[in-house]
Amino acid sequence: MTAPETSRPVVPASVRAARVHAFGGPEQLRVEEIDTPRPGPGEVLVRVAFAGLNPLDYKQRDGSSPSARALTLPAALGRELAGTVLDAGEGVDLDALGLSPGTTVYGVRPMTDPRGCYAEAVVIAAGDLAPVPAGPDGAVPTGEALAPYGGLALAGTTALTAVRQAHLAPGETVLVHGGSGGVGQLLLPLLVQAGAGRIWATGKAENAVRIAELGATPIPYDEADWQEVIREATGGSGVDVVIDTHYFSTFEPSLEHLAPGGRIVVLPTLADLTPATERGIEAHIPRIEPTREDLDALAADHARGTLPLEVSEILPLADVARGHEQLQSGHTRGKIVLAL
Ligand SMILES: NC(=O)c1ccc[n+]([C@@H]2O[C@H](COP(=O)([O-])OP(=O)(O)OC[C@H]3O[C@@H](n4cnc5c(N)ncnc54)[C@H](OP(=O)(O)O)[C@@H]3O)[C@@H](O)[C@H]2O)c1
Repeated sequence: MTAPETSRPVVPASVRAARVHAFGGPEQLRVEEIDTPRPGPGEVLVRVAFAGLNPLDYKQRDGSSPSARALTLPAALGRELAGTVLDAGEGVDLDALGLSPGTTVYGVRPMTDPRGCYAEAVVIAAGDLAPVPAGPDGAVPTGEALAPYGGLALAGTTALTAVRQAHLAPGETVLVHGGSGGVGQLLLPLLVQAGAGRIWATGKAENAVRIAELGATPIPYDEADWQEVIREATGGSGVDVVIDTHYFSTFEPSLEHLAPGGRIVVLPTLADLTPATERGIEAHIPRIEPTREDLDALAADHARGTLPLEVSEILPLADVARGHEQLQSGHTRGKIVLAL
């Protein structure tokens, strides 16, 4: 008896995608049927199971991000995904990448690739994907268990880059603004791994338990004055590093709470670092350049449970506008992902 041939995944002729035809409010997001894209040289066609939402997505949707200029309308938004390999274009050696049709993958588009991820199938550069490893039960996650991988690639590479830019020496102290958001929830365990001495993280009181679970001392900024807490806890000498995921009301006051030689990393790409650099303070904004090595490392940490990522909501594609409204509130806990 001959063994049955492994069937290749079926590539549909068309897929559903959420696209904007004009910049504007969440109502501009339209779910529509589009032709399934074909992978070009060096690219992989992925059946998307989950696409992560990020604040950049609404800034592109309303046109306020300079990166929106690179979009060709109508445009599908979103930069990160988890799903399965359907097909590969010319010159892609799937075997060499540890992939094959049907492999569960996750990945992120770099800023130079504005093609979006809010679609049932997308084409993405082979190097921007990594296989999803098996979990502690020995099985590669499926169904809702795969959802965190839909939000891990962008927030994870951002958190890794931010920790690297902070040049943390073992034992140094850190203040994180926004410890329970998408990037914040990954920053805290990565800072612990990097040897931080003590970590404080601000967030609403309702997020304090989560922040503590991730290894930081919570500062509920809606109930206490974080500046007083830091002044008192450090005896007025300040912290060695601030990682500021919020920026607006926190960046300039944070400069008053840095110890001599302290560094600050600010996430929003439009942040003005001048108030720090004018005072001779080392300041950075992460410019992420995802690599396969980083994606593999993040996935391995997540799979072994040392880099958890809370998915606070899984939304069907039809509710993408609601997801954008939530993002715009600035108070997302963990990640929101779309199920496709
Ligand atoms: N440079 C890059 O490449 C890059 C990459 C990714 C993201 N980003 C940017 O980084 C920022 C954060 O991204 P994200 O995905 O983590 O966003 P997010 O998931 O929406 O989280 C926002 C965080 O901000 C916190 N926050 C809101 N108001 C605050 C305040 N007054 N003080 C302290 N924290 C406050 C929220 O905590 P509460 O709910 O507890 O208030 C929440 O933790 C966004 O601006 C995003 O565009 C930049």
